[in-house]
Amino acid sequence: MKIGTALTNNATKALLLGSGELGKEMAIALQRYGVEVIAVDRYANAPAHQVAHRWHAVDMTDAGSIKAIIALEQPDFIIPELEAIATGALFDIEEQGGCTVVPNATAIQLTMNREGIRVLAAQQLKIPTSAYAFAGSFAELEAAVNNGIGFPCFVKPTMSSSGKGQSLVNDAGQLKDAWDYARSAGRVDTGKVIVEAKIDFDFEITLLTVRALNAAGEIQTYFCAPIGHRQEHGDYRESWQPQAMTQAALAKAQDIALKITDCIGGLGLFGVELFVKNDDVWFSEVSPRPHDTGMVTLATQKQNEFELHVRALLGLPVNTRLHCCGASAVILGGIDGRGVSYHGLEQALAVPDSEVRLFGKPEAFVNRRMGVALATAATTDEARIKAAITANMIVIKPE
Ligand SMILES: Nc1ncnc2c1ncn2[C@@H]1O[C@H](COP(=O)(O)OP(=O)(O)OP(=O)(O)O)[C@@H](O)[C@H]1O
Ligand SMILES: [Mg+2]
Repeated sequence: MKIGTALTNNATKALLLGSGELGKEMAIALQRYGVEVIAVDRYANAPAHQVAHRWHAVDMTDAGSIKAIIALEQPDFIIPELEAIATGALFDIEEQGGCTVVPNATAIQLTMNREGIRVLAAQQLKIPTSAYAFAGSFAELEAAVNNGIGFPCFVKPTMSSSGKGQSLVNDAGQLKDAWDYARSAGRVDTGKVIVEAKIDFDFEITLLTVRALNAAGEIQTYFCAPIGHRQEHGDYRESWQPQAMTQAALAKAQDIALKITDCIGGLGLFGVELFVKNDDVWFSEVSPRPHDTGMVTLATQKQNEFELHVRALLGLPVNTRLHCCGASAVILGGIDGRGVSYHGLEQALAVPDSEVRLFGKPEAFVNRRMGVALATAATTDEARIKAAITANMIVIKPE
């Protein structure tokens, strides 16, 4: 493969659809190879905008806007960073040729709707998942729960992320609220919710899985060490790597990840979310892109998840080796406000082997992720404590 010179006629150009913290790290990884980076988000001065050659702010759920930017920029690679994208536009672009949607348009469409990926995993590939049903009305939801899903269960919009619109329902009295919440908070109202039986797992992992070219020029699948994580209200709070698990469970996890990613195809990194109990493993969902819990790899791997994604999509060799044990802890806004300031970095970075990434988001919300603390240590338990202390030292103030 060849890479041109950025900002000249032969530049190799990458267009990021989504410019949050994950896009920012992807942009940095792309910049390191001299790729020309154009970052797109729905608002100005998003994290990746700040490290790109150029940026645009448009409604990415509008096919016309996406096509106009692609026509203007003529990218070689389109790299979706989030799910809320008009996927129809990506199919048209893919069909026209001359540009690669990473990993491919089908993957983006399949994973943006829980129904697509769940049906593929459970019915087509026969991979273990929670018991589930889709419901298009409250009556259908009640019937699904009464006819087998039972309590406790999760009710989620079919199109949402970061736990939005999602409820854990413990009894029949909570079901209506869960239905209303799922219908009101979904990203797109598909008219449907998914209800899933709650899996009583010991822990959950993200298995970062990379499809990249090997020395022979063939697509090979590589796995990172499993990442354990803790979620609150469907949103990640801390992650660590490696998560200890039995050989049998790890083999099942890798087998599931291989089947899913083989089926999706393309080149790139995938975050396969799995639930684990003893030797049993259930598939939950997959991101065809770097995963928020995978930010821990910024500290633990020589080639972090962003570097791996970029190398894979460019057709370059990858190495998924773990360098050391580590953990990440998110830094939440804690307040609502524009142009906030960050205090306590001296103390935070005095924690040995700690690092802090502040995303530079123009606006803070109480529960918005504004940064992440990273730490390495001899064990993941120790790294988790160090990352949590580091994150807690940072105080966000109105100005
Ligand atoms: N069926 C289930 N059984 C047990 N726990 C579940 C189930 N579904 C969801 N959860 C819990 O809720 C979390 C978020 O669920 P899920 O990944 O489906 O939501 P999401 O909105 O896609 O979140 P994200 O975009 O952050 O991955 C899971 O990581 C898990 O902790
Ligand atoms: Mg998830």
